[in-house]
Amino acid sequence: MRLRYRARQLWHALTATPAPADLELARQTLSPAQMELFLQLQPNEQAHSLQIYRQLREPKPVDEDLLVAALLHDVGKISYPLRPWERVWIVIGKAFLPAKAVEWGQARPRGWKRPFVIAEQHAAWGADLAARAGTSPTAISLIRRHQLALNRPESDPVVSTSHENQLLQRLQLLDDES
Ligand SMILES: [Fe+2]
Ligand SMILES: [Fe+2]
Repeated sequence: MRLRYRARQLWHALTATPAPADLELARQTLSPAQMELFLQLQPNEQAHSLQIYRQLREPKPVDEDLLVAALLHDVGKISYPLRPWERVWIVIGKAFLPAKAVEWGQARPRGWKRPFVIAEQHAAWGADLAARAGTSPTAISLIRRHQLALNRPESDPVVSTSHENQLLQRLQLLDDES
């Protein structure tokens, strides 16, 4: 069942911490300004991004924009750090009332809707933060679009190259599994 999978995934997410060796690898990909953003993510969020990043480093050749996007895709979450119970709330809301979860996400990040707003809007916030840190246009676009579910392409207003869409698909697949 999807929810059981999500619950197990959530438990791993809540307890994970980044490995020092992985952080060293990230430093090879990110500029100091980007690394500063990355380190503001919560430890479990860093571990999640590093897991995707590690998988994208193989096979060669690697795409640098994709690696940067993998590390920074959730960086918008530093604006409003999620509490553990809010992560649980998101999983439950998305499992049982997916359309409502999207609707609640259009509000301001306050009160009980806050976790859904973060879930819906962190991609846009992250893209803006990444842009200010001097990130490439392709990586910014990947960050901005990473939450547009593969089955919701009609909600994507961005006209982009098919190469970029392939990168986005790889990122989303790993993001969903990690
Ligand atoms: Fe995300
Ligand atoms: Fe993610």
